[in-house]
Amino acid sequence: MNTFLSIPLSLIMFTATSLGKTVLQTPDVLLKKQDESAVITCTHQIQSYNQILWYKQSQDSLGLKLMGYLYYDKQNKEPEFDNKIKLEGEAQTNGNLTISNLMLTDSAVYFCDAFYTVLRITSV
Ligand SMILES: *[C@@H]1O[C@H](CO)[C@@H](O)[C@H](O)[C@H]1NC(C)=O
Repeated sequence: MNTFLSIPLSLIMFTATSLGKTVLQTPDVLLKKQDESAVITCTHQIQSYNQILWYKQSQDSLGLKLMGYLYYDKQNKEPEFDNKIKLEGEAQTNGNLTISNLMLTDSAVYFCDAFYTVLRITSV
């Protein structure tokens, strides 16, 4: 699922893309003013998944840009978003993306995805 974040109140073009019913993202559309913060929540019920990843799709860039991910309760942010976002929650069930100091360039479609990591320990 995705969330369209629009700053400021303006024309909204929103396309919902459902990647399945297992991962839920709220809200669908978010209208915020400049300098405010936005919180997007992602939940899932796939117990073996321990990562929630967040992506940004802007009009000026093709494809999805990884912003960071939550691994259990630890946030791992891409350097570009280090001072911009906060990732909270427990990735086995839920995660929040908080985007602070909203600017026009934050107008985008945001996606979350849930995933699992396999820890492989090899002996030498
Ligand atoms: C995530 O955001 C929701 C809605 O704002 C809030 O109720 C919840 O407490 C937040 N969870 C965490 C872990 O921050």
